[in-house]
Amino acid sequence: MTATSTRHGAVAVIMLDNPPVNGLGYDTRRAFAAHVQAADADPAVTAIVITGAGKAFSGGADIKEFGSPKAIAEPNLLSLIRLLENCSKPTIAAIHSVCMGGGLELSLGCHYRVSAPGASIALPEVKIGLVPGAGGTQRLPRALGVETALNMIVSGDPVKSEVLAQVPGQKLIDRMIDGDLLAGALAFAEEVAAVRPLPLVRNLKATHPESDAYFQFARNTAKAMAKNFPAPARCVDCVEQAVKAKFDAGMVYEREAFVALMMTPECKALRHAFFAERAASKIPDVPENTPQRPIAKIAVIGAGTMGGGISMNFLNAGIPVVMLEMKQEALDRGVATIRKNYEAQVKKGKLKQDKYEQRMALLTTTLHYAEIGDADMVIEAVFEDIEVKRAVFEQLDAVMKPGAILASNTSTLDVDKIASFTKRPQDVVGTHFFSPANVMKLLEVVRGAATAKDVLATVMALGKKIKKTCVVSGVCDGFIGNRMIEQYSRQAGFLLEEGCTPQQVDRAVEKFGFAMGPFRMGDLAGNDIGWFIRKRRYQEKPNMRYSKTADLLCELGRYGQKTGAGWYDYVPGQRNAIPSALVEQMIADHRTALGITPRKISDEEIVHRLVYSLVNEAAKILEEGIASKASDIDMVYLTGYGFPLHRGGPMCYADTQGLFNVVEDMKRFARNPHDDAEFWQPAPLLARLVAEGKTFS
Ligand code: NAI
Repeated sequence: MTATSTRHGAVAVIMLDNPPVNGLGYDTRRAFAAHVQAADADPAVTAIVITGAGKAFSGGADIKEFGSPKAIAEPNLLSLIRLLENCSKPTIAAIHSVCMGGGLELSLGCHYRVSAPGASIALPEVKIGLVPGAGGTQRLPRALGVETALNMIVSGDPVKSEVLAQVPGQKLIDRMIDGDLLAGALAFAEEVAAVRPLPLVRNLKATHPESDAYFQFARNTAKAMAKNFPAPARCVDCVEQAVKAKFDAGMVYEREAFVALMMTPECKALRHAFFAERAASKIPDVPENTPQRPIAKIAVIGAGTMGGGISMNFLNAGIPVVMLEMKQEALDRGVATIRKNYEAQVKKGKLKQDKYEQRMALLTTTLHYAEIGDADMVIEAVFEDIEVKRAVFEQLDAVMKPGAILASNTSTLDVDKIASFTKRPQDVVGTHFFSPANVMKLLEVVRGAATAKDVLATVMALGKKIKKTCVVSGVCDGFIGNRMIEQYSRQAGFLLEEGCTPQQVDRAVEKFGFAMGPFRMGDLAGNDIGWFIRKRRYQEKPNMRYSKTADLLCELGRYGQKTGAGWYDYVPGQRNAIPSALVEQMIADHRTALGITPRKISDEEIVHRLVYSLVNEAAKILEEGIASKASDIDMVYLTGYGFPLHRGGPMCYADTQGLFNVVEDMKRFARNPHDDAEFWQPAPLLARLVAEGKTFS
């Protein structure tokens, strides 16, 4: 069923019924239109109430139809709205729960709107790089006033119905209805059944006393806040038309802006990210109805940098945590860090004092394994040393109740090997959080060879509960994200050897849109971490070529911000990266020792060598089945590595550039005698896609 119609006395009630959120897909639109036409034609009907079944009025367009001909097939949303406006009898939208995008635009075509309290009302199109496309920018300012409407349209954020009902002079919500919404809507319908002429939002005036100055200010603000995205400023332009142009001209303007934005790479990237996030939560061979294990209590082993941050995620979600350490001092330090973090949030007004206390009350600590056995899941975050992990997992195997999930936060070690330390490898999984674990969105869920499907389903659901973006990775060194970043770091090193300064590389990468270039990032995270990994690599893969520049830096004790100096110099207590003459000399000396004559390297070459190194490694990761979809890799980079959102992730970017061109560039890089020709051989999957004229997506 997609829409139903029932009669309540002389009032027809047309109910959108397309779970989960009454998306306005083609079948729903057709059924809805037929019901409206029938009710309008029926002489016994005096008014029409429109509402949504289940947990939404309507969430708007049906995202499953995006990009398909069905999305615009008649009757399209604009036609439905015209149908409602032209109805000879009053139409009343009864809004509840969720009323967003096309759902809100549909309601604005009704003659009246009533609402239950607590409904989330929004025009979120800007979040996928668009302006609302069915009159939202023309009708909402008329109904709600220019400033409130503009804020909603530019931010895309939902506002509660009871808040909007309080806006002075608003005509969006004609009546708030406490209690039974349908009964209230029917009573309202009877009251207005005979009132003529029928009011239309399109006939209202949108005005602003200082419109020129206001719109200029709004446009500047939108551009400054979303510098890589054109849609917010276009939203301002459209709302300006609502004030300055006739309604029909404003509608044409909005449509043109919508169509033009739809074709921009930024909009494509945002839509890609939107679908990629939803796709990441689906695991091909783990059906959505896979039973989950109940998780009411978590144990965390190790109260260091990661253990503390990991614990906070669960405390924030109201799940009790017990932290275990070897020594009381370590526990005390861990708890003090958690307190300090929460107190900083309280100080900034981001967390209420009572919430902070509630969260801390959920945290307990222990030095004894016997006291954690009743937890439903345990997450190990001890030192990155396989023998330490062995000792921990053998103890966990001995004390944890049957069915408990045993997770490791290891960033590089073999999860299958860790599972082999227990007699229950099916219960073992990797949960690779990113630092700071209470802030970073990404959670790589590492699937071992034996990991049970219900364990995966449970961890994915739990990840969602703690507001993480979960991406499943198979077992390999570095999993998806860190395995790729190693190639990126290697390229960054080669660029220095060939003639770049750290600041030049960082500037190019930051101009491309990364939050931080590789060298500023190294200084923030600690250059010693990469050094430690490279030393291991020198043993494991003696033929792999690395630039030694980063090792020389570490040999000088320049680990980054924590030692007051890294690739850059730092003034104590400040984070500003100051170019270092000493580092530049160190790089120049090393270059001389290698016999390399420095050359000028363009920003484009810098960016493409760095980004395509990610892409080539990612193609191998895909082919090996470590990641199941290219879009999962994009999610890892967008949420864990600061890859610019408006580029959609490395794979999306490569598709946008054209894989043919990507491979041609790789061949050129392979001819560079100072680079790694072997690495630049296009991964077999990439070569195949080019040969077949295909893309990653
Ligand atoms: P850390 O050194 O800050 O904390 C480790 C804690 O574990 C220490 O407090 C230590 O006392 C405790 N510990 C050691 N052995 C123990 C044992 N047998 N029983 C109980 N507690 C024990 O280390 P960090 O950075 O928190 O890393 C922990 C794990 O998380 C490692 O596997 C690391 O590779 C991984 N990881 C680290 C990231 C980072 O950015 N620091 C990011 C992602 C993963």
